[in-house]
Amino acid sequence: MAVYTLEVTTGSMLHAGTFDNLYVTLIGTESQSRRTQLSFGLDNKTAKVGKCSVTTIFSLGCLLLLKLEKDPFLESLEKDWFCSKIMVRTPEEDEILFPCHRWLSRGGFVLLRGGRAFEDLHPRLVEQRKKELVQQKLMFKWDKYADGMSYNLNLYDPTAVPAEISLSFSKVFQFRYMQQAASAELKLKGVTNSTEQWESFEAMKGFSWFKKSPLSEYVSQHWKDDDFFGYQFLNGLNPYIIQRCSKLPSNFPVTEEMMKPFLANGSSLTAEMKKGNIFISDYKIMEGLPTRVIDGKPVPLTAALCLLYLNPEKKLLPIAIQLGQQPSEENPIFLPSDLESDWLLAKIFVRHVDALYAQLVTHLQKTHLLAEVFTMATLRNLPIIHPLYKLLIPHHRNTLYTNIVARVTLYGPGRTLGNSSLGGDGFTELMRRSLSQTTYTSLCLPENIAARGLESIPNFYYRDDALRLWSITNSFVKAMVAYYYPSDSEVSADSELQEWVNEIFYYGFLGNGDSGIPSNFQTVEELIKFVTMVIFTSSAQHSAVNSAQFDLIGWIPNGPLLLHQAPPTTKGQSSTEAILATLPNKYSAGLFMSFVWLISRKYDDFVPLGTYPEQRFESAALQMIKDFQAELSSLSVVITKRNSELELPYDYLNPKEIDNSVNI
Ligand code: FE2
Repeated sequence: MAVYTLEVTTGSMLHAGTFDNLYVTLIGTESQSRRTQLSFGLDNKTAKVGKCSVTTIFSLGCLLLLKLEKDPFLESLEKDWFCSKIMVRTPEEDEILFPCHRWLSRGGFVLLRGGRAFEDLHPRLVEQRKKELVQQKLMFKWDKYADGMSYNLNLYDPTAVPAEISLSFSKVFQFRYMQQAASAELKLKGVTNSTEQWESFEAMKGFSWFKKSPLSEYVSQHWKDDDFFGYQFLNGLNPYIIQRCSKLPSNFPVTEEMMKPFLANGSSLTAEMKKGNIFISDYKIMEGLPTRVIDGKPVPLTAALCLLYLNPEKKLLPIAIQLGQQPSEENPIFLPSDLESDWLLAKIFVRHVDALYAQLVTHLQKTHLLAEVFTMATLRNLPIIHPLYKLLIPHHRNTLYTNIVARVTLYGPGRTLGNSSLGGDGFTELMRRSLSQTTYTSLCLPENIAARGLESIPNFYYRDDALRLWSITNSFVKAMVAYYYPSDSEVSADSELQEWVNEIFYYGFLGNGDSGIPSNFQTVEELIKFVTMVIFTSSAQHSAVNSAQFDLIGWIPNGPLLLHQAPPTTKGQSSTEAILATLPNKYSAGLFMSFVWLISRKYDDFVPLGTYPEQRFESAALQMIKDFQAELSSLSVVITKRNSELELPYDYLNPKEIDNSVNI
């Protein structure tokens, strides 16, 4: 007789257990066992490990598959069961892990693969692997929200998503509670759908009852300061637009005479450019975008240009602003020496276009929507036993659900972002432009920083932390990939891997060869770089551009998503009243404040970067994960120490604050 001992682990999430009948069949190279019932009752409750044995007359040979089935127990209520894993000890004393990590319904079954290997030779395994992917492709189908945008999952109702990608009960509850509390606050204050403008900045400060953070308080006090304005191009919501300027664009006619008063004694703009001390933020991509029409007039959106100077005290200061791409008498270049309210208004228009770009391009398009493409490609093309599936699935957690919620609550008329300056048409056009300009280089951080000439600018904490994270992630990926792919030939021969990257190229970047995104992999090195980019984009990069939102633009004048009045066409005509009339009205301000509060909060289901909670890997890979986690912990200590010495701590890329995936 041959005895196989099984340990069956039920998931630890709410309602994971079951009282239903569960059956297992072991399938080996020589034969298969009879259908055997697993132990019944408390063994299969939430977070329990049940034990049972399967007895056969002879050994089954090499174990290929484990079939798991679930049938009703008497007339008990239907209830799904979440199986985490099954460990099998064979008569030959081998221990084989069969990862499951999925829900089973009544009458349903799953066929689980065990062990390390992903190069299946046995016909039964080859067949099973193909069947699994056919099923996955039926469940996760591509769709597109608008022409020119990357593709997405074809589901638009959060309540109808498969259990496999649903959020935990506690997260849904917590999010809805916060949403309703924010909405109730607006109603209680009587500003819902109000068009009333603000009477003063003091009135704005007292507006929020409970939404506050130490940094948002700091911003409400320092938002007018030039050095804080400059600081945000490096460490704010959008560290992806500023670049070194060695030659002024021809449509930005700043002169030496204009700049002289703002540069170090005796210096010139040309000299400072040569020294590498001049920078520019150019919002050309926003030019001519259709904007919302309010009271018969389109609201303003300026494709601004902002010139910045790194002064001898190492402060980055704005020195010239043009509120549009076409220079003219009606489009003057604003200077720090202008009337205080003129200069402040010019900076507000820059913050406005920057906040929209940050929200829609840097955050939504370049993290959320890309992460959705990566997730879809993984679910559709990599079987659960594939090493890349095991590596990436924790970095895809909750991403599809989060984006479905974003599609139904944020985009389009009447939605939160539909209340911004862009509205629906402007939004889709910006998404189209941005995707067509996105390159592989721009998504790979070290190359991105170098291309913008930002390697040495001081006080660039985003760059410092992000480069360390890129490097740590890259080392980890290198070790994992080398373990599973010893040479280039294993990479080029892996048809599932090739399909995975090809779908990303086609559905994520619309097959645009000019983007430089690979459509296939020929070498181990290419694979390592790409997977590093996928993990970095889905974790660290999202954290950097998501978590700071309430801190920085919860104080609405520092990042208004809507402005009501056109930019000034002459100097000396502005006033505090004109600024207040330009800023979002009370309802829009309340809506934007609640929105950034909701999406930049840390929820209870937060999982820090480097966590691989479901046991899917073999011991060699587990050690690599431990090394990765140790590197992240060391970086966390370094960042915490650095922050303790800063007036404004930069903690958004502290590994312990980075979510493993795009999770909100
Ligand atoms: Fe986000």
